Amino acid sequence: MTSRVRVGTAGTGSYVPERVVPNSWFESQVDTSDEWIVQRTGIQARRYVAPGEATSDMALRAAERALAAAGLQASDLDLIVCGTLTPDHILPGTAALLQHRLGATRSGAFDCNAACTGFMTAFNTAEAFIAAGRARHVLAIGAETLSRYVDQKDRGSCILFGDGAGAAVLSPWEDCRQGEVLRTILGADGSGYEHIHMVAGGSRLPPTVETVQAGQHYIRVNGREVFRFAVQRMSELIEELARGHEYDEIGLVVPHQVNRRIIDAALERLGWTDEKVMVNIQHYGNTSAASVPVALDEAVRAGRAPKDKLVIMVAFGAGLTWGGALLRW
Ligand code: UT7
Repeated sequence: MTSRVRVGTAGTGSYVPERVVPNSWFESQVDTSDEWIVQRTGIQARRYVAPGEATSDMALRAAERALAAAGLQASDLDLIVCGTLTPDHILPGTAALLQHRLGATRSGAFDCNAACTGFMTAFNTAEAFIAAGRARHVLAIGAETLSRYVDQKDRGSCILFGDGAGAAVLSPWEDCRQGEVLRTILGADGSGYEHIHMVAGGSRLPPTVETVQAGQHYIRVNGREVFRFAVQRMSELIEELARGHEYDEIGLVVPHQVNRRIIDAALERLGWTDEKVMVNIQHYGNTSAASVPVALDEAVRAGRAPKDKLVIMVAFGAGLTWGGALLRW
């Protein structure tokens, strides 16, 4: 049996579409206000794709930036794993489109749908392939075009979501000497599948004129239930990943950007302050699988991931699913 390969995070990249949609835009769509949205979520704006723009277009840009940061070519990749719940097509997977568009001639490619945990699932899969010696360079992506699945008449959900893409290239730690993956977690509890749900469009209820007219292809969210779950799971995940380490060793926490109040409540449970926590929800809203990699990339580029300090990433979402990773930057 071969020994485990140490895995590092060679580079990160992200992309958000140009169109900024401020809270005031929703005031003409539903009964809401900028004040309510800011107070209840911390969101001030989100980005929406342009007509004709889709998930792989954003993912491509994020991937190119991550490869450039890693100093690698697309042809160096052995595998592309794309976390998304809003693929360009149901068939084929978005990762295969990216393989072609990047020119990743040697790479395998597949999607994973773990909703807001999509990037952590892709990242942890990438780590496992490299650790097992089955791949050398793997591109993990989280990318979403949620604006196309938001019911703009549902004030409880339409204000939450935005579009974007983030990526990380994982490589043997010996090659990059950065962002060593020390621990990974993935979990699920499918009994809560109805809390965040698209009722129609799949094999259970294929799309018809009637399902579309009833808006059953839109994302439905049981906000209060998810709120409770999210606070508890975020604090538990951070606690589990930080176990055995001193608070001073931690340099950066990158939580899923789900709701500013959820992040604050989780920190309060932990007794932590927000100084080490990356928050960009005010600019982008909840971008599901793109949320953690966009926040990670922005934090890294802003110099907020100090060398040799620990970096914690945590996400949770529909399924219900959750995942996290502990890195030493
Ligand atoms: O990544 C996973 C997906 N994300 C989620 O599932 C979101 C998690 N949940 C949340 O972020 C929060 O629960 C929400 C932001 C969705 C809602 O915040 P809340 O503080 O939990 O509000 P609430 O659901 O308890 O609703 C309070 C009131 C209700 O009115 P009544 O029944 O008290 O009269 C809602 O109808 O706020 C009303 N409301 C709104 N009012 C103005 C709900 N959405 C809005 C809105 N504008 N956009």
